[in-house]
Amino acid sequence: MRFKNKVVLVTGSSRGIGKATALAFAREGASIIVNCDKEIAVVDAVVKEIKDMGVDAIAIQADVADESDVQRMLEETIKHFGGIDILVNNAGIVFDVPILEKTVEQWERTLKVNLIGTFLCIKYTVPHMKDRLGASIVNISSTNGIDSISPESADYDTSKAGVISLTKNFAQSLAPHIRVNTVAPGWIDTDINKDLPKDYVEGETAQIALKRFGRPEEIAKAVLFLCSEDANFITGSTLVVDGGYQ
Ligand SMILES: NC(=O)c1ccc[n+]([C@@H]2O[C@H](COP(=O)([O-])OP(=O)(O)OC[C@H]3O[C@@H](n4cnc5c(N)ncnc54)[C@H](OP(=O)(O)O)[C@@H]3O)[C@@H](O)[C@H]2O)c1
Repeated sequence: MRFKNKVVLVTGSSRGIGKATALAFAREGASIIVNCDKEIAVVDAVVKEIKDMGVDAIAIQADVADESDVQRMLEETIKHFGGIDILVNNAGIVFDVPILEKTVEQWERTLKVNLIGTFLCIKYTVPHMKDRLGASIVNISSTNGIDSISPESADYDTSKAGVISLTKNFAQSLAPHIRVNTVAPGWIDTDINKDLPKDYVEGETAQIALKRFGRPEEIAKAVLFLCSEDANFITGSTLVVDGGYQ
């Protein structure tokens, strides 16, 4: 029970990596704020699954790209739990469109959700985290933010590179009280990849040393490690979890 009595907010936790992370923290004794933008009914089911484990959980609909939504999410969190120990900035979107066909609206939405949303959640969480021992933030980037491989996701790759930069800056400014790290997943089997063409998936899988996409639970394990006491001397780092992609 590494996170007994800790309060954890995971953005975008209705499904995929966020849901797996929320469930993994709950299994280790944490109380959870489950968040999404659209799928509130799905989030209620995740809350029920967590409560069935014997820990507390609440659902909060909030668009992380909307400053007033983020403020309200933190107000509701503090009203219910009184503070917050761990923030996982996981909410993310991608529009796979040829680079020259990308619109300003797609660029703006991608940067607002993936990058500015991460900034806003940190900005409004930190005041409620400062006096909590072992407070920690993990931002979910992507290997695309380190080594951009697809012009069709140029806006996404830019946002994820920004997340790594943001992490390093916050790690410096929030030390020594709050550690801030990044997990950079490679290909993970979730809804975000469900429309990729079969032959493209096969080609990408061939480039992964372990010859498969990762599972959301395998990213959750990396997040929990970075938030645990085992990572007490790690801040500003990026942990790549990609099965050995070349
Ligand atoms: N899967 C991969 O291969 C992979 C690889 C590298 C990095 N990542 C990153 O990992 C994170 C999770 O991805 P995933 O694969 O689990 O994606 P997913 O299955 O599509 O889930 C995305 C989650 O984010 C939520 N969300 C989207 N926009 C939001 C917003 N504006 N405000 C609040 N919540 C929002 C979604 O809920 P609603 O739809 O209800 O809003 C959903 O819960 C993302 O940041 C993604 O970029 C994924």
